[in-house]
Amino acid sequence: MVMRRLVLAGVVAAAMMAAAAEGFISAKTWSAVRRANRGGPFVGLVVPNAYEMDPVLSSPSFSLSPTLPYLDVQGRRFRFGSIGGQNVVMVMTGLSMLNAGLTTQLLLSLFRVKGIVHWGIAGNADEGLQIGDVTIPEQWAHLSLWNWQRYGDGPENELPLEAAGDYTRQFGFLNFSDYTAGGRSPNELNSIWFQPEEIFPVSGTPEQRRHAFWVPVSSLYFSLAQKLEEMELPACVNATTCLPRAPRVTRVSRGCSANVFLDNAGYRQFLRAKFGCTPVEMESAAVALVAHQHGVPFLTIRSLSDLAGGGSSLGNEASEFLGIAAQNAVDVMLKFVPLLAGAGAADDIVVDM
Ligand SMILES: *[C@@H]1O[C@H](CO)[C@@H](O)[C@H](O)[C@H]1NC(C)=O
Ligand SMILES: *[C@@H]1O[C@H](CO)[C@@H](O)[C@H](O)[C@H]1NC(C)=O
Repeated sequence: MVMRRLVLAGVVAAAMMAAAAEGFISAKTWSAVRRANRGGPFVGLVVPNAYEMDPVLSSPSFSLSPTLPYLDVQGRRFRFGSIGGQNVVMVMTGLSMLNAGLTTQLLLSLFRVKGIVHWGIAGNADEGLQIGDVTIPEQWAHLSLWNWQRYGDGPENELPLEAAGDYTRQFGFLNFSDYTAGGRSPNELNSIWFQPEEIFPVSGTPEQRRHAFWVPVSSLYFSLAQKLEEMELPACVNATTCLPRAPRVTRVSRGCSANVFLDNAGYRQFLRAKFGCTPVEMESAAVALVAHQHGVPFLTIRSLSDLAGGGSSLGNEASEFLGIAAQNAVDVMLKFVPLLAGAGAADDIVVDM
């Protein structure tokens, strides 16, 4: 009797160990991850929301793997399949920089990924483009890391912890005084100074920080994307609602991300004038910062769904044009991924911008 109880306890303990094994990821999941990686290397597809992923799932250009269609890890679903002969693993992040960054890190930690393609909709800060156009920026910055200056201080005053190298006045500021309806006047909110991210490239020394503000996309992917500029996209949402001209695909210099849904003309104009942003959205710079630190090639494809507060209509246009904008971004992504046949995994890693 005592013997049997001991044996049973041993079996239970072994089962618990197998289930709990490594950190929060079970041994069962790790073995499924190893099996999945036999199908690699993959193009990692990172998408913010369901409305930007669903058109992929229903596209004939995407086929789900019959042997391993998906693997669920840590509240995320990794779907396996192929697009034009390229093996892909696709994951939905959810809204915002935190979700985008941690999901991209999870993707790269678990799977053999040769490069990352990210897509979605965005606000448009460039007057020269229209809703429905699909933009492919060459650089991305995260614009919601700030040092908020106290009232009374000006551009000549050092920021707190600036001397320690934690913060800088290098990338400029927004002064609330300049945005007073009826003319410039002192404002107790004073100024916010835009800050680069602290990064820790995997090829560097642990805990030795570098800084990154403008993060470049892969130069190879960016040059491959030139082929997409010939794509023709539909001009009509349905039989009655059409855009002034057919949307086009265009490579642009800069995209900007922040934990902000932007529906404000003043800030939109500021971002355009100060930083040269075209798409403004909430995830790409996070994906870029993670990919960059791993030296993994990365590209974003963002279609313009609204004017980020710069439109003449009474409301934001995103709800009206979200469908066509999401579909356009997906169509361009589906054309881009097959161009990666033969593209390797290593990319130039450049830091301290
Ligand atoms: C912002 O405006 C205030 C006046 O409201 C001025 O005192 C301050 O120097 C300005 N700050 C910068 C960084 O230009
Ligand atoms: C066409 O799309 C617009 C914008 O989404 C919508 O307001 C309108 O009702 C649609 N018309 C038809 C006929 O479906």
